[in-house]
Amino acid sequence: MEVIIRPDAAIAASMTAELVAQAIRIKPQLVLGLATGRTMETVYNHLVEKHQKVNLDFSLCRSFNLDEYIGLSPESPHSYRYYMNYHLFKKVNIDIRNTHLPDGSAKDIEAECKKYEDTIKECGGVDIQLLGIGRSGHIGFNEPLSALYSRTRAKALTPTTIAQNSPLFPKPEDMPKRAITMGVGTILDAKRIIMLVTGKEKAEILAKAVEGPVTSMVSASALQLHPKCTVIADEAAAELLKEKEYYHWIFKNEPEWESFR
Ligand code: GLP
Repeated sequence: MEVIIRPDAAIAASMTAELVAQAIRIKPQLVLGLATGRTMETVYNHLVEKHQKVNLDFSLCRSFNLDEYIGLSPESPHSYRYYMNYHLFKKVNIDIRNTHLPDGSAKDIEAECKKYEDTIKECGGVDIQLLGIGRSGHIGFNEPLSALYSRTRAKALTPTTIAQNSPLFPKPEDMPKRAITMGVGTILDAKRIIMLVTGKEKAEILAKAVEGPVTSMVSASALQLHPKCTVIADEAAAELLKEKEYYHWIFKNEPEWESFR
């Protein structure tokens, strides 16, 4: 794992977008693993801008999102499908048929999860997976105690996650209590991972994920097992990291992310 600390959230997001853009330029038919949440909005704004200003070409890209709420139709303005269409897909030249999210309104959730895993495999696996982190330590919606080998499945959301995301719904009680999510094992299968973490409210969980033990109590700690994982944090989120000086030194002298291609 490489930890890169940037001065603020805007610079951290712009670096994340640039790494994704570089990967698309190198491999136009990139399989992108995408995340939702407030942190990612700035990254998608940058990618849209790169498409508009420097012709970043998404036409051959395929994408798989991490998760979707159960019980919301893709048309619901609170679904992650809607979020992705709004923030990225409708603003760049990706073929919408090549964009994938689990269907939270599927009648047979188990079959939907299996189909999702199969489609990822058929596409040759995820090349680069973008991640945020929830305050419960989740990646996707892998709440505490998610098996480190877990695959795409339904998960019950924790009170911490419900408190974090329910303000995004018209009434907090409208937020679904379950979601389909790629498993921790599914995420770790990606060839490369970039996790973006900003803001002081994420400092405590980031320290546990990066410097704590690998434990299913903090799903993001499983990223320590991945050979090509870059964590990009702003100073506020990095506040509680004990080895900050070391991470800065590596970034300046021996940056690994440049070779993660
Ligand atoms: C949701 C998503 C996660 C995301 C998290 C962070 O819970 N399921 O994939 O990482 O939000 O959200 P935010 O960026 O709004 O803090």
